Amino acid sequence: MERANLEARARALIEAEAEVFRARRPRCAAAHDEEASGFFDGVPQHWMLDWPTPFPLVVDQASGVELVDLDGNRIVDVCLGDTGAMFGHGPAPVLEALKNAGMRGLTTMLPSSDAQVVGRLLVECFGLPRWQLGATASDANRFAIRVARAVTGRAKLLVFDGCYHGAVDDTLVDLVDGKTISRRNLLGQVRDLGELTVSIPFNDEAALADALAANDIACVLAEPVMTNCGMIPPAPGFHDTLRHLTREAGTLLLIDETHTISTGLGGYTKVHSLEPDLIVMGKPIGGGVPVSVWGMTQAISDKLHVIRREQSGHGHSGIGTTLSGSALQLACLRACLEHVMTEEAYAKMQANADRIEAGFKAAIAGAGLDWTVSRVGARLEVVFSALPVKNAAEARAAASDTIEAALHLSMLNLGYLLTPFHNMVLVSPALSEKQAGGLVNAFSTVLERLIERRAAA
Ligand SMILES: Cc1ncc(COP(=O)(O)O)c(C=O)c1O
Repeated sequence: MERANLEARARALIEAEAEVFRARRPRCAAAHDEEASGFFDGVPQHWMLDWPTPFPLVVDQASGVELVDLDGNRIVDVCLGDTGAMFGHGPAPVLEALKNAGMRGLTTMLPSSDAQVVGRLLVECFGLPRWQLGATASDANRFAIRVARAVTGRAKLLVFDGCYHGAVDDTLVDLVDGKTISRRNLLGQVRDLGELTVSIPFNDEAALADALAANDIACVLAEPVMTNCGMIPPAPGFHDTLRHLTREAGTLLLIDETHTISTGLGGYTKVHSLEPDLIVMGKPIGGGVPVSVWGMTQAISDKLHVIRREQSGHGHSGIGTTLSGSALQLACLRACLEHVMTEEAYAKMQANADRIEAGFKAAIAGAGLDWTVSRVGARLEVVFSALPVKNAAEARAAASDTIEAALHLSMLNLGYLLTPFHNMVLVSPALSEKQAGGLVNAFSTVLERLIERRAAA
């Protein structure tokens, strides 16, 4: 079916499905009121209004993969807080750690007795020898970038077009007509972010060599698979080239594993034997509790010691926040690393992701659509193009907000919550085989409605 026809059909579907959503949720509708709630826009984070639903779901309970909204609707969650709850809502060992941490003190600005165990677990699991904590992946990226600049003495940063690394000013840029510019819609941004950040297309080895040639880039910050602009896999050999060229240019390689931790135990880096100088991870690493980690090589750690000594080691370094490294974070990290983020959990996630990938591909073929399913371990995304996209320009050309919204709303009305803004499915160890099958059936039904083989709900 032509894209224009599909989009017209998607618009009609959105209208019908929005009605169904509304009819089932009088309480959620009533809860969304700026005046009564006291929140700006009626929500604790303004972007909670950006979902394709007419008003936000208000979640009463979340456990495993099941959400119950304020109106009592039960939903299978494959959005999982966009990865924050990748291991399921409230994994039992983390709930136990939360309870115990509550009894033993949540934050003291000192290392807790869990600290040494957690440090060793991070080294074992992710390979790099020295670690620090933050509260969010955004924080961890900011801190790692700062360290990269400190140890290289260089100011510039290189990112890939279409990247998202959190609320990190230096990275909020776009590549437009070959020029790096501040991203549109940034609030209150007064600096020209293109002055110190270079953005190039992912998978473009020539552009990479060119950008690194002046030996003035402190670090390349990259997701190993780009997950925030479609889902863009690295071309064969791209990571080898990236590592080789960065080493040659004296540029550090900072890998952001916040989403690609879905790949398998130890993240994409461990599974694919990458050799970054710095790694960042956040979101699910503490089982849903706000904690992030960033790791560095021995060489960076050694240089940092020297710099800190020269500066006498005191004062504001620009790294760290009061609640980072807290007893609460350490307790939850320990529980997650020891008991939640395990080989067994990943095996279960992969097995269901295999089923969903095969089922989605069959449904797409059955509907005669030329779409692909991109995958990084437990993370799958439906991309509206016949071939995997190679960079952000191709991903943007393939994307359709309208079709995405239609799929999202229709799936939600059938009881499955996809990630908004892109059709991402994240498979948690709490998802059962039956639920995975139900998700595939729902997807197939929705595609049939989209191509008008079946009437809408
Ligand atoms: C790859 C990546 N890194 C970092 C972040 C920032 O995470 P947080 O919002 O938890 O700081 C995100 C958020 O989506 C992300 O996708």
